[in-house]
Amino acid sequence: MKRILFSISLVLLISLYAKDVFSQTESSTGITNRKWWKEAVVYQIYPRSFKDSDGDGIGDLKGIISKLDYIKSLGIDVVWLNPIYSSPNDDNGYDVSDYRNIMKDFGTMADFDSLVKGMHARGIKLVMDLVVNHSSDEHEWFKQSRSSRTNPYRNYYHWWNADRGKPAPRYSLFDVNHDAWKYDSLTDAYYLHYFSRKQPDLNWENPQVRMEVFDIMKFWADKGIDGFRLDAFQFAAKDTSFPAFPAGYEKRFQLYYAMGPHLHDYLKEMNKEVFSKYDVMSVAEGAGNSFEDAHDLVDPVRKELNMAYAFEGVDIAKPQGYRLLHFKEVFSRWDSAFAKNGWLSIFLSNHDQARLVSRFGNDSPAFRELSAKMLATFIMTMRGTPFFYNGDELGMTNIRFTKIQDYRDMSIINEYQHQKNIHADTLKFLELEKFESRDNGRTPFQWDNSANAGFTVGIPWIQVNPNYKYINAAIEENDPNSCLNYFRNLVKLRKNNLVLVYGKYKLLDKDNPNVYAYTREGEGKKFLIILNFSATNAQTHVGVAIQNILLSNYNDNNDRKVRQPVIVLRPYEALICLLK
Ligand code: NOJ
Repeated sequence: MKRILFSISLVLLISLYAKDVFSQTESSTGITNRKWWKEAVVYQIYPRSFKDSDGDGIGDLKGIISKLDYIKSLGIDVVWLNPIYSSPNDDNGYDVSDYRNIMKDFGTMADFDSLVKGMHARGIKLVMDLVVNHSSDEHEWFKQSRSSRTNPYRNYYHWWNADRGKPAPRYSLFDVNHDAWKYDSLTDAYYLHYFSRKQPDLNWENPQVRMEVFDIMKFWADKGIDGFRLDAFQFAAKDTSFPAFPAGYEKRFQLYYAMGPHLHDYLKEMNKEVFSKYDVMSVAEGAGNSFEDAHDLVDPVRKELNMAYAFEGVDIAKPQGYRLLHFKEVFSRWDSAFAKNGWLSIFLSNHDQARLVSRFGNDSPAFRELSAKMLATFIMTMRGTPFFYNGDELGMTNIRFTKIQDYRDMSIINEYQHQKNIHADTLKFLELEKFESRDNGRTPFQWDNSANAGFTVGIPWIQVNPNYKYINAAIEENDPNSCLNYFRNLVKLRKNNLVLVYGKYKLLDKDNPNVYAYTREGEGKKFLIILNFSATNAQTHVGVAIQNILLSNYNDNNDRKVRQPVIVLRPYEALICLLK
């Protein structure tokens, strides 16, 4: 009896204590230089795959509107929406044919206005994807530009007249031959496209192009949106004399293409013309080739962008696995580089990556939920603004297509053709894409276990992952221990403890190959986060007594009383402890 009473009072004490932590007010922290975009949790929505409202098999704006309460229930405060502008969809909207209109598949401007209204009514901000390194070849500017050498729009793009011979090679990421120069017989000239042939690069050296873009940005900002994610922007500035690069440059095209001349001038101009006039956040895809580049993009005194979005971390995952020591080293290095100045985003997935749990965790039935929760714990407890990709909150997994016909991503389809053309091993290529392809992250959102996961009543534009029968929002909604509810708890914990946003990060047990342990400390509070990245038990020595476990992905940790600095963690175990 005594024991029962003791356990009841212990549970009561823990829950009261936890309640206190979750409801801590922000003003009690005294942190300076606070910004809403630093404290935000960003949820990325891939509109094509989120929710279809009209049965055409393609997600749309009305679909998102119908799910606003779900989005709100996550506790997030910013939505980043992939492009929704008019587009022939060579690259799912990253080829814009009219920057001031909505893609027909997605709905109308009235739908967009309702979406913004619905989000704002719920306290959710909206960040738009701005795709201006290139447009679609079906944009009016390009149609004009290609029509004659003397057309006033000629200089909106990069042309190389064939009378000058062939330009020095440039590597295209998506072209079937990887040749970024496309010959156009109409004017006997080549145009430049770093991405697909249908995505000609805009000429940012032309001040008219820049003014057009700033006007487009103001158009959306005036509609009340709250920020911009600048697609592929580090490639916008180019040396337009197009010098030859050393042999083998295509293996390091990032080094040659990113952060070209005048990039910072363009961003400063954009800041002056647009960002400074609105309360909007700004983030560019990529952060250059060094910390220096990244700092220059986001150092507040320079007045360019708000936060860096660097790929070194997300690029660590490889089909053959990755070393946690490498992972820890990269994230610790980036954190320390930004400890005093500038701001980072924290992410491990987006629409250009395969699924979080399949790349960085373990999506086998035994470990999928545990490792998905462990990875979410990492993202939500690091310094920087967390970006979370839709579906990862459910622990959605790679679909692993086996045939090229299943893919919808033109970059995969073109690359497959390229591999065929050079007589490479296409089976090997398909095998690799099961791990890597971005279509893995683009299968429809799994809402429930009705047909097509409740995504559409029509034929989905891309196959639904058959595991929707048991991985879906409806099931997880009703399970207090689901990935979904765990994610909500994490968001709540972060939102109520600004030390998780701003606090100092310190790596512990540095050389442990299986466990990532660190503290976050500030304003009189200290959290300890311990994550087992392996599928076996793993020991960690963190040098402080492990106490007050606030959240963990095993559901029995309130009973776990560990008071030593050494602990054996279970597979993929994640613990968040409050030390003071
Ligand atoms: C980066 C985007 O995230 C990706 O989806 C797109 O294909 C390229 N930029 C080209 O716009």
